Amino acid sequence: MFLGTMFTVKAAFVWGCLFLCCPVKACDSFDDLIGAKSQGDINIGGIFPIHGYLEYVNPHKKPDAAKCKAFDTQRFIWLQSMIHTIELINNSPLLPGIKLGYEIYDTCTDATRAAKIAMKFLSKTNSSEHCLEVRCDYTNYLPIVKAVVGEAYSELSIPIARIFNVALMPQISFASSAATLSDKLRFLSFLRTIPSDIHQTKALAEFIRESRWNWIGIIATDDDYGKSAMADFISHAQEFDICIAFQELISIFVGSKQHDEAIHALVSKIEAIPNANVLVLFAKSQVVIKVLKEIIWRNVTKTWIASDAWSISRAIASVPNIDKVGNIFGLSFKNGDIPGFPEYLRNLKAGPGTVNKFIEEYMQLHFTCSDESHNDTMTSNSGLKNYSLSNSLKPASLHACTKVNESIEDINDNYLVQNIERGGTYATYLAVQSIAHALRNLLKCHEGTCQKTFNFAPWQLLEALKEVNFTEGGKPFYFDKSGDAVIGYDVIKWIVNNGSIQFKTVGEYNVLDRKIYIYDKTVKNITEAVFSNCSVSCKPGQRKISNSSQTCCYDCVPCAEGYYSVDWGKCCLLYRVGCSQIAMKPIPGVIKN
Ligand SMILES: *[C@@H]1O[C@H](CO)[C@@H](O)[C@H](O)[C@H]1NC(C)=O
Ligand SMILES: *[C@@H]1O[C@H](CO)[C@@H](O)[C@H](O)[C@H]1NC(C)=O
Ligand SMILES: *[C@@H]1O[C@H](CO)[C@@H](O)[C@H](O)[C@H]1NC(C)=O
Ligand SMILES: *[C@@H]1O[C@H](CO)[C@@H](O)[C@H](O)[C@H]1NC(C)=O
Ligand SMILES: *[C@@H]1O[C@H](CO)[C@@H](O)[C@H](O)[C@H]1NC(C)=O
Ligand SMILES: *[C@@H]1O[C@H](CO)[C@@H](O)[C@H](O)[C@H]1NC(C)=O
Ligand SMILES: *[C@@H]1O[C@H](CO)[C@@H](O)[C@H](O)[C@H]1NC(C)=O
Ligand SMILES: *[C@@H]1O[C@H](CO)[C@@H](O)[C@H](O)[C@H]1NC(C)=O
Ligand SMILES: *[C@@H]1O[C@H](CO)[C@@H](O)[C@H](O)[C@H]1NC(C)=O
Ligand SMILES: *[C@@H]1O[C@H](CO)[C@@H](O)[C@H](O)[C@H]1NC(C)=O
Repeated sequence: MFLGTMFTVKAAFVWGCLFLCCPVKACDSFDDLIGAKSQGDINIGGIFPIHGYLEYVNPHKKPDAAKCKAFDTQRFIWLQSMIHTIELINNSPLLPGIKLGYEIYDTCTDATRAAKIAMKFLSKTNSSEHCLEVRCDYTNYLPIVKAVVGEAYSELSIPIARIFNVALMPQISFASSAATLSDKLRFLSFLRTIPSDIHQTKALAEFIRESRWNWIGIIATDDDYGKSAMADFISHAQEFDICIAFQELISIFVGSKQHDEAIHALVSKIEAIPNANVLVLFAKSQVVIKVLKEIIWRNVTKTWIASDAWSISRAIASVPNIDKVGNIFGLSFKNGDIPGFPEYLRNLKAGPGTVNKFIEEYMQLHFTCSDESHNDTMTSNSGLKNYSLSNSLKPASLHACTKVNESIEDINDNYLVQNIERGGTYATYLAVQSIAHALRNLLKCHEGTCQKTFNFAPWQLLEALKEVNFTEGGKPFYFDKSGDAVIGYDVIKWIVNNGSIQFKTVGEYNVLDRKIYIYDKTVKNITEAVFSNCSVSCKPGQRKISNSSQTCCYDCVPCAEGYYSVDWGKCCLLYRVGCSQIAMKPIPGVIKN
């Protein structure tokens, strides 16, 4: 009976496993999953949101095929940065004798489609059926790719990170900054080449303190991103004795009449609160555009502090008269040089033996003379320079309607180069570089040779990735225990150069010592010229009296006779040496001589 029970349990286990192990055929249609592909000895997956949304034939009724809409040029450039970096590595001595390949798909900013792509990447190598095997143990499982670069949005990276956990497939994001992704109990195989959001609010508060402002407004969208950023920022600001003049949430649903009215009311509030001349804005570009257009129209001038969500947005930079809103400072992910990338973009074409549906679509959109591109050409003379018109949703070339006769390969334009977005493009480059350096260690490459054993499992590469430490742009690059790159932010100042907005790097935030370093000497002049304190500091001989709950707001009154103050706003007895020490203790009103 005892043995019988044992047998039953064991049999049930075996059967349970066999039952689970039905192969699942993954979708192999390039028509369904728009992609780019090049076969190598070792293949890397890529997951990018090239289109903005999915349009279903039967929405919410049948799980049928859907069309991807709203091609995004900037994200297309990120994707090309992945391909270019792989080509750079293949032409460098980093992995001698080994060819890296890639397989890249578009999520169309849809989490369900991202999950589908993740399943495809987990399908088995050398399986003619493209089977995704459901196993009990994936230790020796060899999927078609060894690591995945992507997604951009945290909302999409989070569900696929759970799927990749199954085989501990390394996933390296270049843009998902949600703090929760640092949790290595839930997101075991997730890494990223940017810092977590927890650093950002601290860095912004640090910038405001360094600029010696203490009375600021905060505006955020009423979604998870905005609300949590606002709460985190306020707690850091309070630590630094920065007072919050007002805080406002705005809806992310732009376009309705209510939304326009809410923005109108918001700008009235901004105008009404005295001395709050510095405003921190946590919002996506579409909302920021609405707010800043209203600000321009109402002739309001403030100093704006941008979160990474809009600090380098070309769409905002191309709003007419954007330079009238006042100074714009912001934080963005670290930028660096990608060797040869501008030339690569100027001569963009799919290499021999590769497929790249994205390039085909881009060329089509860019060089076809549609009504819309014709209109763009006609209306391009609107204040700022022509090329800054280029908006992520309008990739049509200004030449599309003038150079109709040339074949598209012959038109060598600078559109993509001018639209290279700082940060995301470089972070993608770093993701591929870190995979190559991990492979170099894993395959024990030295003296021009590597072990050509490609049947290692993804989890082995993950181990190697956690250990990478290489120099990039003169600085060491490595991941911390949470899988976050130990990398800071750039401090950006928007400047008008030659008629268009440029994002100038004026300093950086270091995540190790948590300090802001401003390199550009002109910044101090600019920040000093902006007054954003509730009250003017008291003069020597004065003290503060306050009837407000805000510690930054007070009136200055003269010290009583025989008492003295330096600059702390508190009075102490003149004859006591070291007035500033005693000034720590407030001295009550009238005194006897
Ligand atoms: C896949 O098949 C090729 C040839 O068909 C073989 O050389 C290679 O070793 C196989 N790879 C794995 C991981 O089984
Ligand atoms: C504003 O307040 C900060 C911090 O309290 C102070 O350091 C700075 O000098 C003040 N600026 C002016 C112009 O009074
Ligand atoms: C903004 O300034 C312009 C020119 O100075 C003026 O024509 C316009 O009426 C002003 N707008 C508002 C809302 O005050
Ligand atoms: C182009 O401009 C014309 C006239 O301004 C307008 O009627 C048409 O709708 C525009 N077409 C597109 C695609 O924007
Ligand atoms: C913008 O482009 C149009 C047509 O190509 C040209 O006529 C115009 O001068 C350009 N404007 C500027 C500001 O460069
Ligand atoms: C464009 O090509 C057509 C036929 O190939 C030719 O007749 C026409 O003159 C060309 N136009 C220009 C502007 O070169
Ligand atoms: C990375 O390498 C550099 C130089 O080789 C070394 O100074 C640094 O301590 C290393 N960092 C880590 C985290 O291993
Ligand atoms: C300004 O634009 C002109 C013509 O477009 C160009 O020749 C010049 O190099 C530009 N200057 C700078 C500083 O970018
Ligand atoms: C800062 O402003 C002062 C006075 O306005 C000026 O003399 C100085 O050159 C400025 N410094 C920089 C780096 O712009
Ligand atoms: C404090 O109250 C007095 C009298 O009501 C008022 O004049 C003064 O402006 C208030 N000061 C502050 C800093 O609110």
